[in-house]
Amino acid sequence: KSFFSAVGGGPPPSPSKRHTKITVVGVGNVGMAIAQTILTQDLADVLTLVDANRDKLRGEMLDLQHAAAFLPRTKIHASSDYAETAHSDLCIVTAGARQNPGESRLNLLNRNVALFKEIIPPLAKSSPESIILVVSNPVDVLTYVAWRISGFPANRVIGSGTNLDSSRFRFLIADHLDVNAQDVQAYIVGEHGDSSVALWSSISVGGVPILSFLKKQQISYEKETLESIHREVIESAYEVIRLKGYTSWAIGYSVANLARSLLRDQRRIHPVSVLAKGLYGIDGGDVFVSLPALLGRNGVLGVTNVSLSDEEVKKLRESADTLVHLQRQLDL
Ligand code: NAD
Ligand code: LAC
Repeated sequence: KSFFSAVGGGPPPSPSKRHTKITVVGVGNVGMAIAQTILTQDLADVLTLVDANRDKLRGEMLDLQHAAAFLPRTKIHASSDYAETAHSDLCIVTAGARQNPGESRLNLLNRNVALFKEIIPPLAKSSPESIILVVSNPVDVLTYVAWRISGFPANRVIGSGTNLDSSRFRFLIADHLDVNAQDVQAYIVGEHGDSSVALWSSISVGGVPILSFLKKQQISYEKETLESIHREVIESAYEVIRLKGYTSWAIGYSVANLARSLLRDQRRIHPVSVLAKGLYGIDGGDVFVSLPALLGRNGVLGVTNVSLSDEEVKKLRESADTLVHLQRQLDL
């Protein structure tokens, strides 16, 4: 006898056919920050965790499952077998080596390319219609690697890119002006990391373009002051890694924010790593770098035509060239 009686004597209703499934590969600091933000924000009906370390994987799954009484309902699975990830709508890849204090993201490349050769084929095979969202570093080159290995169309392979750098940038500007960071529109584009490019010409606060505002108010600002805010963004991750060993909370929120725009078809604009060949004069080859992109249920729906200053275009091309140069050394 079932625990519940059927209503009207008929069979019990079958579960709703529409469900959203997210897979997170890698249950380290970053994967778990993303997983827990996805759960608290009710973004998935099914969450599947994958990791090569089976004990940690099962431990993390159980620990999250034990929070079920306090969270929206989500089925949580964990397996080191990619068959469990089948029919995912979104696959988020966070597995891999992370930086030691002072180490650059680009230095992780060879170790993490080797892992991606193991991870991407079974992931793509199990969910051929999914969107792959790469977070592991160096994120731009690994997004290119995931695109090449998966054979997915470019609109369904995205790197978390400078969505995080832009959030750091917005925080610092908001802190400077003592306003809410959500009212600051500001983009960092290019490589997620050392050669990123701050788009000063398009920053606005509450719809007011900031450079012309400062000029009108006759508030003097030095190019050096602006550059120092950008330098602080670049230094942010190094500082957090030096202090606590890794970064996790901000990337957790940043990726959950992307997951919402993608899976709920929000058509919001995020600076994320996309195939940028042919855009803004980037002509060195197939390269993924962050540009403000419109995100929805089909992945990248388009790239915004922001007007960049000549200097910004030059820096963006240089940032792309740095990545192309690294990609040439890869054996894929
Ligand atoms: P971590 O060491 O805490 O976790 C890495 C996890 O990957 C571990 O659980 C490990 O078992 C797993 N793993 C290793 N090989 C695997 C394989 N073959 N298959 C499945 N899982 C495997 O590291 P972390 O702090 O979570 O960082 C993870 C990655 O995210 C790093 O590359 C880091 O640089 C990157 N990161 C990116 C951003 C960003 O903005 N893009 C932000 C923070 C961290
Ligand atoms: C970040 C990582 C380390 O937090 O890429 O920026």
